[in-house]
Amino acid sequence: MRSCYILFIFVLCLLSPVSGAQGKVSQLTILLPPDQSVIESELVSIVIVTGGTLDAIRLSVNNSDLPSIEKINRNVCKVIKLEEGLNTITIKGFKKDEPAEEQKITLFYRPPLSENNSSAPDAFRPYKFHTRERESKCISCHDLGQRRANKEPQDISQSPCIRCHKKLLDFKFVHGPASVWECTTCHRSTVKGHKYSVSKPEQNLCYSCHSDAAVAWKDKKFLHGPFSMGICSVCHNPHASDNDFFLRKQTTDLCLSCHEEKATGVHVVSGVSGGGHPVRGKPDPLHPGKELSCASCHNPHAADFSELLFQNRNSGFEFCTACHKF
Ligand code: HEC
Ligand code: HEC
Ligand code: HEC
Ligand code: HEC
Ligand code: HEC
Ligand code: HEC
Ligand code: HEC
Ligand code: HEC
Repeated sequence: MRSCYILFIFVLCLLSPVSGAQGKVSQLTILLPPDQSVIESELVSIVIVTGGTLDAIRLSVNNSDLPSIEKINRNVCKVIKLEEGLNTITIKGFKKDEPAEEQKITLFYRPPLSENNSSAPDAFRPYKFHTRERESKCISCHDLGQRRANKEPQDISQSPCIRCHKKLLDFKFVHGPASVWECTTCHRSTVKGHKYSVSKPEQNLCYSCHSDAAVAWKDKKFLHGPFSMGICSVCHNPHASDNDFFLRKQTTDLCLSCHEEKATGVHVVSGVSGGGHPVRGKPDPLHPGKELSCASCHNPHAADFSELLFQNRNSGFEFCTACHKF
């Protein structure tokens, strides 16, 4: 009995954080995201718990420093931007301008349209935030109310999503429903699977508002690969973007991220320089006000003519003469 008691004390000592040689309580813990995560969006939230004795925190992404964060509360939450591929995030805590502690995590950012097709190292795992366990670490300060989640906010500032996700819309063009923070028209928390996942196939979601587009494309003979699979968000950012039509990249760059060979190869014509027909940098004669792009000749969604062309290219000169007077 007595030896049992001694053993108990011994185990307690082992478990106690201030015991033994270490003798130091960590002042800096990275709560989120987990080290070695694969991240599929350019933005990621870093949540740090501090011991309360630090005066400032400095974050850096791949050795480029972000502005230092002064006036540290117990939790520091910060949305940062990642670069494609590996990102080492270093977080340094300072006491009176002296470095006190440092922590690192490594993340792998894989954009939906990646040019170099590199894949994450083996140990890296996808990461989702909205699980009951992870949310429980935030509810002391943040409203993660399930009850309000499916009700659209009358007043944008009342959205249960805005405090954490406001940077998602920091772009030139913001998509209608996202701009009024009607996030849950698309992210119902009642959809089966992970909380806030969108119902699939995605096109049904988009067609619920874009019914004109659905009608226009319904009977087309030729469908574009990704479009025919019902995927829209590979090309369109459903939230916001700096490009027209909320495209993930400017049109020609977007097409080239899957049709790389068209960047330099012979296409339509074989030009003097060995390349093909121009695909940018000139006004588009068919669509006044727009720049020539791959979409000047090809419909990115669906068309009545093969190769998704706006016009049958075998019908004599009609195809070329839509733009050229030879
Ligand atoms: C001790 C309180 C506290 C806790 C706990 C906390 N936060 Fe925060 N969080 C804040 C404060 C304060 C802000 C900044 C004020 C604001 O924008 O509303 C903030 C802002 C944020 C932001 C926006 C940051 C930005 O740069 O735009 C995100 C994202 C965030 N928190 C995520 C989380 C997550 C995820 C958790 C749980 C893992 C969490 N927070 C836990 C207090 C807290
Ligand atoms: C406490 C902060 C917080 C609030 C409030 C919050 N989110 Fe998130 N959400 C996060 C974090 C952190 C991530 C992980 C991605 C990141 O690092 O930004 C995330 C990720 C997501 C994802 C991707 C899937 C996942 O679980 O990782 C969706 C979709 C999402 N949030 C939707 C919503 C919607 C809709 C609301 C409002 C009803 C909401 N979020 C409110 C912090 C928050
Ligand atoms: C709740 C309704 C709603 C849903 C769902 C919706 N949209 Fe929209 N969308 C709009 C509205 C309203 C506009 C016009 C205002 C604007 O440009 O944001 C719009 C505009 C657009 C535009 C620009 C059209 C143009 O001619 O400029 C694109 C592209 C687009 N949406 C794509 C999508 C995609 C892709 C989805 C599915 C992931 C989707 N939308 C789902 C309401 C919706
Ligand atoms: C028009 C529909 C639509 C609206 C409105 C919408 N989302 Fe999304 N969201 C999507 C789709 C589609 C995805 C990609 C989901 C997938 O493939 O898993 C997505 C993905 C996300 C992700 C994962 C990271 C990323 O960028 O892909 C987050 C976070 C997110 N949404 C938050 C929000 C928030 C916050 C709002 C409100 C401002 C919102 N969404 C409004 C359709 C929408
Ligand atoms: C392969 C990339 C790609 C895919 C996949 C894609 N789009 Fe588009 N979308 C584009 C491009 C590029 C434009 C701009 C075309 C232009 O410049 O005329 C566009 C324009 C649009 C427009 C506005 C103009 C129009 O043609 O009506 C809407 C609405 C739209 N897309 C909705 C969708 C929906 C809904 C889906 C999924 C069913 C989808 N897109 C899938 C690339 C794509
Ligand atoms: C996400 C990847 C992706 C993007 C982005 C993309 N495509 Fe495609 N495209 C495909 C796939 C997959 C096929 C089908 C390949 C096959 O059948 O050989 C295809 C086929 C095509 C075809 C041949 C269709 C036929 O009937 O033979 C054309 C033309 C085309 N794409 C043009 C474009 C244009 C223009 C853009 C930009 C607006 C674009 N693509 C963007 C993936 C993509
Ligand atoms: C001036 C009109 C025009 C422009 C601009 C154009 N294409 Fe084409 N494309 C055609 C024609 C015509 C064909 C039919 C085959 C041929 O004659 O080469 C075609 C065929 C294709 C095909 C299917 C056959 C093949 O060669 O693989 C793909 C994929 C394609 N184009 C992608 C693109 C991409 C990506 C861009 C932008 C970088 C682009 N096109 C710009 C006219 C054009
Ligand atoms: C959507 C409109 C459009 C269509 C369709 C189109 N072109 Fe062009 N083409 C252009 C534009 C714009 C230029 C650039 C003119 C300039 O340099 O000012 C161009 C340039 C050219 C050039 C000069 C190339 C160079 O290197 O300077 C040739 C040759 C040409 N086109 C041939 C064709 C042929 C052949 C067809 C039919 C198979 C065709 N084009 C269809 C818009 C088009």
